[in-house]
Amino acid sequence: MPDLEKKEEFAVDILGEESLDNIHHVNNPVLDVPAIEKNYLSQVRSYSKEGNAYVFTDGKAKVEVRIFSDEIIRVRLAPQGTFLDDFSYAVKTDLHLHPTSFSLEELEDAYLVKTAATTCRIQKDNFFISFGDTKGKTINRDHAPMHWEESPDFGGYYVYCTKEAQSDEAFFGLGDKSTNLNLRGRRFSNWNSDTYGFGFNQDPLYKTIPFYIGVTDSDAYGIFFDNTFKTFFDFAAEQNNQTSFWSEGGELQYYYIQGPLMMDVIKRYHELTGTHYMPPLWAIGYHQCRWSYYPEANVREVAEQFRKRSIPCDAIYLDIDYMDGYRCFTWNKRYFPDPKKMIADLAADGFKTVVMIDPGIKVDEDYWVFQEGKENKYFCRRGDDYFMEGYVWPGRCQFPDYTNPKVREWWGTLYEGLVEDGVAGVWNDMNEPAVFGRGTFPDDVRHHFDGIRGSHRKAHNVYGMQMVRSTYDGLKKLQKNKRPFTITRAAYAGTQRYSSVWTGDNIATWEHLRIGLLQLQRLSMSGLSFCGTDIGGFTGEPDGELYTRWMQFGVFSPFMRVHSAGDTRDREPWSFGPEWEAICKKFIELRYKLLPYIYTIFWRQHKYREPILRPISLLEQHKPKNLLREEEFGFGDQILVSPVINPGQTSKVVYLPEGSWYYYFGEKVFEGGQEHLIDTPLDEMPVFVKGGSVIPEYPVMQYTFEKNIDALKLNIYYGEGTHDSYVYIDHGETFAYEQSVYNEKHFIVECQNNVLSVRQHIEGLYNERFDTYKLYFFGLPAESKSVHVDGDTVAWSYDEEGTPYISVEKEFRKLIID
Ligand code: GLC
Repeated sequence: MPDLEKKEEFAVDILGEESLDNIHHVNNPVLDVPAIEKNYLSQVRSYSKEGNAYVFTDGKAKVEVRIFSDEIIRVRLAPQGTFLDDFSYAVKTDLHLHPTSFSLEELEDAYLVKTAATTCRIQKDNFFISFGDTKGKTINRDHAPMHWEESPDFGGYYVYCTKEAQSDEAFFGLGDKSTNLNLRGRRFSNWNSDTYGFGFNQDPLYKTIPFYIGVTDSDAYGIFFDNTFKTFFDFAAEQNNQTSFWSEGGELQYYYIQGPLMMDVIKRYHELTGTHYMPPLWAIGYHQCRWSYYPEANVREVAEQFRKRSIPCDAIYLDIDYMDGYRCFTWNKRYFPDPKKMIADLAADGFKTVVMIDPGIKVDEDYWVFQEGKENKYFCRRGDDYFMEGYVWPGRCQFPDYTNPKVREWWGTLYEGLVEDGVAGVWNDMNEPAVFGRGTFPDDVRHHFDGIRGSHRKAHNVYGMQMVRSTYDGLKKLQKNKRPFTITRAAYAGTQRYSSVWTGDNIATWEHLRIGLLQLQRLSMSGLSFCGTDIGGFTGEPDGELYTRWMQFGVFSPFMRVHSAGDTRDREPWSFGPEWEAICKKFIELRYKLLPYIYTIFWRQHKYREPILRPISLLEQHKPKNLLREEEFGFGDQILVSPVINPGQTSKVVYLPEGSWYYYFGEKVFEGGQEHLIDTPLDEMPVFVKGGSVIPEYPVMQYTFEKNIDALKLNIYYGEGTHDSYVYIDHGETFAYEQSVYNEKHFIVECQNNVLSVRQHIEGLYNERFDTYKLYFFGLPAESKSVHVDGDTVAWSYDEEGTPYISVEKEFRKLIID
């Protein structure tokens, strides 16, 4: 047996800590190589200040505590004292974050790094790091010092962070996980995976969003572990009082984000990773997809049916079969002899065409994309320099290395032909990346990683994100600054800057409708607000009821698209018979009525970083029971829905937050702060509008911009107290909103003693075509009769149905009804 004590001394020596004098000869040096074991930070020995950061050391390892803002602090660990390159695909490059002030205070037992809102405490004797407010309250603390273990096969370290989990703490976030909203008691990994027909609790899935929110009694905080390797999270699963996150490589680097509200944390996470740009208006209409609509006659027939049946629809998708032998950027000329003409005809009828593009490029010396990629060495290569080859739809493929900026640039230009043909949007799929048979690339595939080279272990989780990034950038240039529409299956944190997402290959079951409900709320809390499920279920056969209930949920999904696998029966809204068609039509029409409201909540997301879907926990965090509610959610600030997710369900219990709530399909008003039993006939679903809201409404259109709006309808709901509402309008197509070419109307509704007043403030430079609003009122007290607008008395008007409304100029400042 080796003398362990001696071995330790020696280990210290060969690492150069002590003098070299006492090195002695050993017969078997292998015995004296330090054992591979977990190493922990020991005591803080000293610190230095470097710009907005303090670097603490235990003599060898270093820890950087960098202040990004009053509420965002980043911690990094360098086990041997040298930090890795400070580079991130997730964090925006144009960060405008600054703390108002910060300082360091040294106590006998700790250092305190203080900002105006947050205190980070670094305990001297054990290097425990904790965070709290400025009044001395601790919100999050280490359970063990940060630790690591050498990774002899790959170099670098497995890195670990273990924090305390409070007994009442709930956890949210992590992207597309198909599990309950509260993640407590579970362990997850992040490794983007093609998971056809995934199940409840299956993990990992398609996306990697290593960001979570912890919530205890009144406080919420966030942790964003910005590490692209395979990462793991344990939320009080192995040990009831501990939460850990770790990675198979890279740096232990995380952002602590202070609350106290979950909403604050999410907004601040968006400050780091960005929001989705304003989508083109048509992208939030109803979309019809199928694997695949072909040949051309079939596409035209589906489009015609929509118009014939007066069911609104804005986009039709072409899945892989439009290509020539699944070669990206080509057309199958037998199925689509004149794509340009077909797309133009569809466009004339109000349909946008969206096409699929996958990363696998067919190995074919006669195929221009393959030739260009090969000539320029744009395809990924193995450790020993062989090309990374694998089978996907086209057969043997090679794969662009999207982590190389030159490759991204090239890939963006490849869309030129499709854009010339009139294609309006691009759907990037199989970009986990998926490879038939073996799942994904082997670990030894090398990547450019924007100059900070790495193996597939490092690049895997960002591969899809970088693919859709190059698609987005390319389209933006080719479409001459029109807003692109892109959708991706794989994602890493920050993908919202480039794309919308969907949840992949789900199943046509009631369980999956529920999973989708959970996934979309979770994605929305994790930065990916523009998200949707395959309505109706991708694989398997829904019956009319499931399809229709899913369509109802789809109206309140930020992205609304029906999609299904090639071996399933028809899935158009009329495919299940007239009874179901009528209900689907009613609900798709509802989507179009709500378009200006939905567009506004996209704006609130883009500009103010508010997630589009808001679980009840986010709306009323202070009630512990709410942390467990999963079925009802806010669709923006003013609408609350609780989709019906069980067959044959005739009623359901719905919790409504504080305030008064108007049932959308009837007259009833419900008092919030409690549960109610709501009837759920098939042609209705629990949808409620908050008292005090102003909800803009468009007439039903068959596609966006079909009709000019002569006067904008605003529905105003009486509700005691003061309430803010917003309506955002722009021309729906370009980035001119970045130069303030938009109109943001802020309505402040005040209701008290049977008097209702509305004040309006307008911001922005856009001038809509309409001049007036038509104001409709709900819940007005019977006594209120006379209307005053900016000092003048105004008479009621009556529409064709005899419903009273007030017609006012769109610039009105103040209206009072008493
Ligand atoms: C993948 C996608 C699916 C698509 C199919 C064929 O399974 O997730 O949406 O229809 O590939 O392209």
